[in-house]
Amino acid sequence: MTLPKPIKFRVERYIGGLSQFKKVDNPIKLSANESALGPSPKAIQAFENDKNKIFKYPESDSSSLREVLAEKFNIDSKRIICGSGSDQIFDLTCRLFLEPEDEVIVTEFGFIMYGIYTLQHKAKVVLAKEKNFKASVDEILKKVTNKTKIVFIANPNNPTGTYLSKDEMLNLRKRLKSNILMVVDDAYFEFLYSDDFTSGLELFKDFTNVLVTRTFSKIYGLAGLRLGWGYSSKEIIDAMYQIKPPFNVNRAALAAGVEAIKDEGWINKAIEYNTLWSKKIFSVLKEYNIKVNEPTTNFFLINFGEKKISSDKIFEKLASKRLILRKMTQYKIPNALRLTIGNKKANEHFIQSIGSILK
Ligand SMILES: Cc1ncc(COP(=O)(O)O)c(C=O)c1O
Repeated sequence: MTLPKPIKFRVERYIGGLSQFKKVDNPIKLSANESALGPSPKAIQAFENDKNKIFKYPESDSSSLREVLAEKFNIDSKRIICGSGSDQIFDLTCRLFLEPEDEVIVTEFGFIMYGIYTLQHKAKVVLAKEKNFKASVDEILKKVTNKTKIVFIANPNNPTGTYLSKDEMLNLRKRLKSNILMVVDDAYFEFLYSDDFTSGLELFKDFTNVLVTRTFSKIYGLAGLRLGWGYSSKEIIDAMYQIKPPFNVNRAALAAGVEAIKDEGWINKAIEYNTLWSKKIFSVLKEYNIKVNEPTTNFFLINFGEKKISSDKIFEKLASKRLILRKMTQYKIPNALRLTIGNKKANEHFIQSIGSILK
């Protein structure tokens, strides 16, 4: 009997942050850059309020959320598309632009989903070298050919926690050919305050060849509802609507997302919390002479390069103390782990535990 035969994809699967390791009791997940404080109580209330309506389809075009986003960020709601996570926006982007033989430039340690979607859409991933775990405009430009369709860049980037300055981002856009789409992933921008940094949305609001993506999974604490959005020219967004699944954002996500965006007090609290703890954890790691990114996001890439003890061993030792970090094997970053800033108890436990392992 011949069986239905799916196409073979030359793509590795995304390996998400582990929630458990060797059945430790009460594991503390610090492996997925989820929010330390969780969502706004108003978002949770909106989620609850909608529960009797889940037999009804959601809006097909996320119009209620788009209106709120347009108002908050002073942008045109017709240039916004919402997705089931910003992840879906990357998928739609690749589907919209890529044909076999096309090339997509991603940086050496850029967020791995860009490459995965590129390959799923049968195009070629071209890696641009980074310098000291930071993207380089010159290296990206060196990789441009006539086949380049898209350049993806997360700013700040996951998992490296480094970022390109406002000038570097503008310079990159200026020097890239105008027909190459630049995708700027703002997933972690809320956590970063620096004079030389500006979010993708602020920088490229008026551009027609940039797509900015944002997510509700990080500072908004709604990772489980899967909600993100993209902003680009009307032409690109219209074309995405043409191919998006009909009810791609669920009711709960829309209801919670609207309230999460409105609750600025909660977001400020989350930013303040993250700033406080990222500084604390950074100074502790520095005390142990560990190479780590500056506090720019809600996570740290901890590089144990010069330590005698390997990152695998440290992973296991931390796991035995219930702390689950992210291995960097899929990113091919040797001897490193990524730590997400957790709640107060988790952070204190981490500081104490890493101290006892490294002393
Ligand atoms: C840089 C970056 N972009 C996007 C995402 C995915 O976000 P979402 O949950 O909206 O799909 C992540 C998640 O870890 C990320 O690190």
